Amino acid sequence: MDKLNKKIQAASHSGAKLNLNRRDGRFVVTKVIYDSIARANNSLTKQAQFNEMRTGAYNICSVPVSDISRQPDCLEFTMPFIDGIGGDVITYKGNKSVADSLRVTLNAYLLNVLSMGKEEVVLGDKFSEKLQEIKAKYTGSSLVVPLAIDKAYELAQHNFIFPMGDCHGDLTLSNIKVTQDNKLFLFDFLEGFIETPLQDVVKLKQDFDYGWSFRHEKKNLALKGKMFCESAYPDMISTISRLYKSEVELLELINLLRIAPYIKSTDEITQNWLDNALSKNIHSN
Ligand SMILES: Nc1ncnc2c1ncn2[C@@H]1O[C@H](COP(=O)(O)OP(=O)(O)OP(=O)(O)O)[C@@H](O)[C@H]1O
Ligand SMILES: [Mg+2]
Repeated sequence: MDKLNKKIQAASHSGAKLNLNRRDGRFVVTKVIYDSIARANNSLTKQAQFNEMRTGAYNICSVPVSDISRQPDCLEFTMPFIDGIGGDVITYKGNKSVADSLRVTLNAYLLNVLSMGKEEVVLGDKFSEKLQEIKAKYTGSSLVVPLAIDKAYELAQHNFIFPMGDCHGDLTLSNIKVTQDNKLFLFDFLEGFIETPLQDVVKLKQDFDYGWSFRHEKKNLALKGKMFCESAYPDMISTISRLYKSEVELLELINLLRIAPYIKSTDEITQNWLDNALSKNIHSN
């Protein structure tokens, strides 16, 4: 259990504390969050209120939460331990049938959240403000990041029509688990600066187009990851990106840029990964 505990803790990049315990004969994970408590509370509410979705492949559920303790300086809660595959592991351990099922499931998920969204005008200023925040926080030396910020400012000169509504908020492969009984569990929901299903589209692109979850893997595993993502690619990503072209373009750029201030100066892999993703993004439009 110690080994598994270390693995779970090591998988966290947000500074949260995760602990695997045994309670009443069952394994549970306790998570304690110390940063941005108000936002973490709203994110947890999203996880708790998520309605199960049935799809032609996996049933999508959120990991149930219990024993929520709200303190002024931290938020603590407990979840059952979900024994499944997710994160980078799914890209090299998941076979063709997992890839196919994941594609069907994510397509159904995206269609579902999109159909529940309500279109609203969103002012370009909302994005300029976010960009200003990112610019102020960024102290790195990448040459691509400032170019991408300029490009995003340029795109934010317009107003947009977004489908607004429910979304996971941080839908990368690291925040899902697929279990043997054909369930896809969502966890680590995130309240974004804009609540739109397009947030989930750009997060999935972060993995499926740019390989975020396996960026640290060796070449052969990264290649396996790419192959898995090709088989599992939900075509709803492309369809929605065509339907909301300028919205996805800007949100995608901002989503990538938001990573920039948090990259440690020693983490060359992530900086190169980001520069590459941003370059492709700037030049693809
Ligand atoms: N209930 C659970 N059952 C099984 N594994 C879990 C559970 N909760 C978290 N994990 C594992 O721990 C990892 C980190 O958890 P989580 O995503 O909630 O934390 P985080 O600190 O927000 O991480 P990050 O910032 O990297 O997304 C997950 O990717 C998953 O592998
Ligand atoms: Mg996570």
